[in-house]
Amino acid sequence: MCGIVAAVTQRNITNFLVEGIKKLEYRGYDSSGLAIIDYKNNIIRIRCVGKVNELIKKVYKKKILGNIGMAHTRWATHGKVSKANTHPHISSNIIVVHNGIIENSSILRLFLQKKGYIFYSDTDTEVIAHLLHWEQNKKKDPLKKTIQNSIEKLYGNYSMVVIDKNNPSRLIAVRSRSPLVIGLGLEENFIASDQIALLNITKRFIYLEEGDIAVVTRKRIDIFNKNSTITKRKEIISNTEYKSVKKGKYRHFMEKEIYEQPESIRKTLENRLKNNSKIYFSELGLKENNLFYHAEHIQIVACGTSYNAAMVSRYWFESLANIPCDVEIASEFSSRKLALRKKSLLITLSQSGETADTLSALRCSKNLGYLGNLTICNMESSSLVKESDCCILTKAGLEIGVASTKSFTTQLTVLLMLIAKIINVKKEKNNISNKIIQTLNILPTRIEEILKKNELIKNLANKISHKKNILFLGRGDTYPIAIEGALKLKEISYIHAEAYPAGELKHGPLALIDQNIPIIIIAPKNSLLNKIKKNIKEISLRGGITYVFSDQEFDYEENMNVIKMPYVEELIAPIFYIIPLQLLAYYVALSKGRDIDQPRHLAKSVTVE
Ligand code: AGP
Repeated sequence: MCGIVAAVTQRNITNFLVEGIKKLEYRGYDSSGLAIIDYKNNIIRIRCVGKVNELIKKVYKKKILGNIGMAHTRWATHGKVSKANTHPHISSNIIVVHNGIIENSSILRLFLQKKGYIFYSDTDTEVIAHLLHWEQNKKKDPLKKTIQNSIEKLYGNYSMVVIDKNNPSRLIAVRSRSPLVIGLGLEENFIASDQIALLNITKRFIYLEEGDIAVVTRKRIDIFNKNSTITKRKEIISNTEYKSVKKGKYRHFMEKEIYEQPESIRKTLENRLKNNSKIYFSELGLKENNLFYHAEHIQIVACGTSYNAAMVSRYWFESLANIPCDVEIASEFSSRKLALRKKSLLITLSQSGETADTLSALRCSKNLGYLGNLTICNMESSSLVKESDCCILTKAGLEIGVASTKSFTTQLTVLLMLIAKIINVKKEKNNISNKIIQTLNILPTRIEEILKKNELIKNLANKISHKKNILFLGRGDTYPIAIEGALKLKEISYIHAEAYPAGELKHGPLALIDQNIPIIIIAPKNSLLNKIKKNIKEISLRGGITYVFSDQEFDYEENMNVIKMPYVEELIAPIFYIIPLQLLAYYVALSKGRDIDQPRHLAKSVTVE
């Protein structure tokens, strides 16, 4: 996944381009570049490997001025991390920045090489630039027509912006499978992969739909849909606060987002717990109630942290609502022959709503006979929300740290509310939904309490940050929390970490136990506590060192360290116990001087399969 910004204005756009692309750095930070048509109609291109700050230094040294241009931050997919592979790519008068993957780029590259085109990079994007130039010279069509002819030859996803130096008053944007939004200004207009790049300039946005081509000049915007028909797209006024893209008093966005969880959960609960007895989702209506009423099976698909949230909810759907539930990793789901359960409701979970694997799972599920599909998502204007039958929004606010935190806990909050809702709709004669509602009301306070334990967790982090391998254990609905804890640590500290259901240890992983591998155990008060205590004994008598997060008392065990947690209700223990594991990962990464918000090789949401 990459980040794109572009602008056509009457003022100098250099500042806007570098500041805008800086805000999109979470989308990929292998290398970045920009190109501007200056006042003498020259193409000025500056590119460099590494973070956008490197680009900013170079740009300000050069003092370039221009009214039209584009910038890009790259997450490498085609061609290694190098200056030559950095966007924008140029073919004579054609300049292109692109987000996506062209699956048939090698065939097109051969074809264009035979036409005499010389390639300076290994990227699929340079193929697009040369193809556009070739098409344009073959037919002398206006650029929009040239683009329409060219994209017929492209397979894959290719959101892009194109400038023709010979016609430097317009930008052409093409949306295919990755998001692009137009920002409306006065006598100036902007294009970006995400509105946050433009929030300090405008609140007026138009989201391009799948297959749209937009011709953007200072004065007007013409949008053509996939049938090349001029069309109108809704203008929306964003309510996203610009300040939400600032760290405030925190050192990292991840730290800020961990401490924002009580507030993001309150926002997610807001106006949805009616008189503490009913769940009300403004996004849903009778049609959805009907869907829930008839659902006899739940199939959830997601990736990464969202998948871990789905795994927790499987325990809840089956134990609280008595509905069979299967959970699957999206990339596996969409690449296998599925046998559907009767009256199955498909649920997708995603923070960004732009994760290509989850989107393709939804797309491939559409004609398979699911009762319907619902997405639980954090981004209202995302593709997943647009392409789903219905959606419930988590209200986590903008999440910029690549390692998801508040989106995870708000996803679990929505999943618990959804289960209470389904119980209500199915008129189950039990007070489980009331219990869920009452307990959710306490959740934000419980999380505020555990956030105060950060010093305790910082000490543990200093004890284990030099370790090469760490094991996480849980049982029942806290087993997926162990998986999520391990994922957080892997993502930002680069320490190898694995998670197991504690009962599985004796079937193999017990062989790993020695003084060098710390064992992190989640042991809340529930029916599985005694079983976990037995697992701790198994580890201690083989010399393993355990760090047990619990609010319970434990008999003395050799090498066992209990990290005392505040009390929490059993139902919400999974949501509660991820907080200390998020903090643990954060402090370990901090002590190792890692780039916490932008860990190596990762991107905030992965828009390529
Ligand atoms: C989690 O910290 C990662 N950022 C990653 O695993 C992420 O959860 C995954 O890519 C899914 O993203 P989504 O929720 O935006 O679909």
